[in-house]
Amino acid sequence: MKLLLFGGSGRTGQVMQRAATAAGWQVCAPSHGECDLADAQALTATVLNSGAAAVVNCAAVSGLEACLDDPLTAHLVNAVAPATMALACRHTGARFVHLSTDYVLEGVKAGLKNESTKCKPANVYGLSKREGEQQVAEALAAALVLRVSWVCGNPAKPSFVEATLGKALSGAPLAAIADKYSLPTDAADIARVVLELLPKPVSGVFHLCSGGEPLSWYDCALIALQHAVAIGALPVLPPMERQLLAQATFFREVRPRHTAMSNERLCSLGISMPSATLTLQRVAGRYLASRLNK
Ligand SMILES: NC(=O)c1ccc[n+]([C@@H]2O[C@H](COP(=O)([O-])OP(=O)(O)OC[C@H]3O[C@@H](n4cnc5c(N)ncnc54)[C@H](OP(=O)(O)O)[C@@H]3O)[C@@H](O)[C@H]2O)c1
Repeated sequence: MKLLLFGGSGRTGQVMQRAATAAGWQVCAPSHGECDLADAQALTATVLNSGAAAVVNCAAVSGLEACLDDPLTAHLVNAVAPATMALACRHTGARFVHLSTDYVLEGVKAGLKNESTKCKPANVYGLSKREGEQQVAEALAAALVLRVSWVCGNPAKPSFVEATLGKALSGAPLAAIADKYSLPTDAADIARVVLELLPKPVSGVFHLCSGGEPLSWYDCALIALQHAVAIGALPVLPPMERQLLAQATFFREVRPRHTAMSNERLCSLGISMPSATLTLQRVAGRYLASRLNK
């Protein structure tokens, strides 16, 4: 069966493409050049002519500063394009899975957020992603919207976890923000869960992330570094400076502070998700193995 994948060159999309192919899907993943998602007409034609039984959208303008600088493209790619895909899937009968983000949440109060927690995005990216969620739901009630957070685990497209490990290996100074909280999601888990959900008769919004209590970027980096020491990739735990979000002047766009999600609804379907600690250990192990095998 055919699976049409958008965003196949991205951090999540690369892993999704490999996992779907390994699971026996015939994957068609048009590149940005082959199908610009800002072109709704071309996008509709791509979906209608694909013959796909499933359409998975891993594409987005995912950089917060990129969205701030070009809100029109953010709106077209993050909101209009998923709605266009959903409408086209309504015509073809294809299953549609769209990825969204914890940044649609308000992020003011501490603690885990579930699917009925109030959404109030703090930035252009979050606003465009929230609009995408709403338009997808309107266009296709059977669509699945999976909110992921702090995607990591693809060594070819390093996240802050892999970037910190890379710096530690080269002896560079380390620093991480210690007062902003979420939970990591391994791209491999996203791909596995998408494939598990495709045949299930479920729809709507699900939070797809590791389990456990909210962690800061500092906490996540520390768990990854501790694992590097435990497996002998680093001789000792290197020092790491604790930064405050307010000091992060390299960010031009606002970041919400408390967006950690509860994956309870997803797990109630019988889908297992690792703890955040296990996720970070697996992600660190995979990255370190890729570095050592170079
Ligand atoms: N990364 C995270 O930590 C994170 C956190 C929460 C939620 N998410 C969500 O998870 C999903 C996957 O994120 P990711 O980090 O894997 O994304 P990513 O690495 O930034 O990849 C984005 C993908 O979208 C494609 N794309 C962007 N604009 C396009 C356009 N106009 N036409 C066609 N393709 C276009 C890119 O292709 P080109 O590179 O060729 O342009 C790339 O393949 C997104 O929905 C994102 O919002 C990510």
